[in-house]
Amino acid sequence: MSPSWMSRSRGKTDELDAPLNASEKRSYLSRQSKTFWMLLVAGIFLLIIAIGLGIGLGVGLSGGSSGDDSGGGGGGGGSSTPIPPNNNTNVTAGEYWKPAPGTSWQIVLQTPPTDTSLNVSVYDIDLFDNNASTISTLQAQNRKVICYFSAGSYEPNRPDSSNFTKSDYGKELKGWPGEHWLNTNSTNVRAIMSARLALASSKGCDGVDPDNVDGYDNDSGFSLSPTTAVDFLSFLAIGAHSYNMSIGLKNAGAIVNATVDFLQWEVNEQCVQYEECDLFQPFIEAGKPVFHIEYPDSAPSISSSARNSVCDDDEAHGFSTVLKEMDLNDWMEDC
Ligand SMILES: *[C@@H]1O[C@H](CO)[C@@H](O)[C@H](O)[C@H]1NC(C)=O
Ligand SMILES: *[C@@H]1O[C@H](CO)[C@@H](O)[C@H](O)[C@H]1NC(C)=O
Ligand SMILES: *[C@@H]1O[C@H](CO)[C@@H](O)[C@H](O)[C@H]1NC(C)=O
Ligand SMILES: *[C@@H]1O[C@H](CO)[C@@H](O)[C@H](O)[C@H]1NC(C)=O
Ligand SMILES: *[C@@H]1O[C@H](CO)[C@@H](O)[C@H](O)[C@H]1NC(C)=O
Ligand SMILES: *[C@@H]1O[C@H](CO)[C@@H](O)[C@H](O)[C@H]1NC(C)=O
Ligand SMILES: *[C@@H]1O[C@H](CO)[C@@H](O)[C@H](O)[C@H]1NC(C)=O
Ligand SMILES: *[C@@H]1O[C@H](CO)[C@@H](O)[C@H](O)[C@H]1NC(C)=O
Ligand SMILES: *[C@@H]1O[C@H](CO)[C@@H](O)[C@H](O)[C@H]1NC(C)=O
Repeated sequence: MSPSWMSRSRGKTDELDAPLNASEKRSYLSRQSKTFWMLLVAGIFLLIIAIGLGIGLGVGLSGGSSGDDSGGGGGGGGSSTPIPPNNNTNVTAGEYWKPAPGTSWQIVLQTPPTDTSLNVSVYDIDLFDNNASTISTLQAQNRKVICYFSAGSYEPNRPDSSNFTKSDYGKELKGWPGEHWLNTNSTNVRAIMSARLALASSKGCDGVDPDNVDGYDNDSGFSLSPTTAVDFLSFLAIGAHSYNMSIGLKNAGAIVNATVDFLQWEVNEQCVQYEECDLFQPFIEAGKPVFHIEYPDSAPSISSSARNSVCDDDEAHGFSTVLKEMDLNDWMEDC
């Protein structure tokens, strides 16, 4: 099976393999602050986009069958598929589970969890690798179960992989041979994701954790933008909510403000390491949890100073922080 969840690390695992020496650390930090300023500028643009999009979405939701939003493909070079209309289902409607900030959790994607007895309220586990009885066992112990799948990348070894057409997938994810970015506009990709939501519902998942929705940040081979990512997430949210399942954002700091109203949580990786936890605070402010993972170099035997530097991070206040190993096995410590 393709270790797709590792794409979470945004290809930066090399920086984590060995501890940084002092000069590497300095250049790493200056890169980080450069990134900060770039993000700030991008953030201002995105706020403008988000406001525009908010208005667009509002009009779409209240306007009956809006019909014609699908006409405008072709903007980004080559054979762009128009975004199919979502028929104006209310993107927030439903009684689905709405967790609060600070909800405790565990995430295990490497295998089915071998230890299902942690005193946490939520398990985030792989959709395909876990069966309905594992899920109902966790729920019988008064836990909620979030089912993980990749929504924005093609993985070769999933049971439904052959449903993708060659034109659906673009460039490889750096460091993950065989795994490719998807054209999340594609009608076929969306049909496959709808089938994955149906599978999650049939297994009894309380919510879903769709990964790799930030292809706009990467060299995907497609013309993807924050706007198309927001559209894709609203498509997924309408689907998940129609099955009475919740749904969250994965990383994708640039579209937090545009999605926080209709998603139920954020799953973030490494915002302390990349000094960007403030990007995810809007979820906390909206009364929704940020399920937060850091991967300390020395895991699974972390020093108390490594632990404190994560757990005492100012900008991560209110987050549901866990310390994990990169391969997301059973080992976990929380703050
Ligand atoms: C999101 O909105 C908050 C205000 O609620 C603002 O402070 C922040 O800069 C915005 N983030 C982005 C990335 O636009
Ligand atoms: C996706 O749709 C948007 C809006 O219609 C368009 O601008 C973009 O070029 C499309 N991208 C792809 C890869 O089809
Ligand atoms: C939306 O409506 C159109 C026209 O009525 C229909 O063909 C299509 O299947 C609908 N799409 C969804 C996702 O229900
Ligand atoms: C969507 O549903 C929510 C919750 O049921 C409701 O508060 C909101 O008014 C609805 N919006 C529209 C446009 O129907
Ligand atoms: C939807 O999920 C919520 C929260 O788990 C639950 O309370 C409610 O009964 C469910 N509704 C339906 C129609 O299944
Ligand atoms: C489980 O955690 C809750 C709060 O998170 C705590 O109140 C409870 O005592 C814990 N139970 C056990 C058996 O440790
Ligand atoms: C479900 O999965 C668990 C753990 O992977 C396995 O032990 C169990 O036999 C499976 N149950 C069914 C009904 O397939
Ligand atoms: C995604 O983009 C980031 C930033 O440009 C880059 O560092 C990373 O390697 C890319 N990730 C993948 C999986 O291609
Ligand atoms: C894709 O493949 C799976 C497994 O072969 C199948 O059950 C499913 O119905 C197919 N369709 C979609 C749209 O994913």
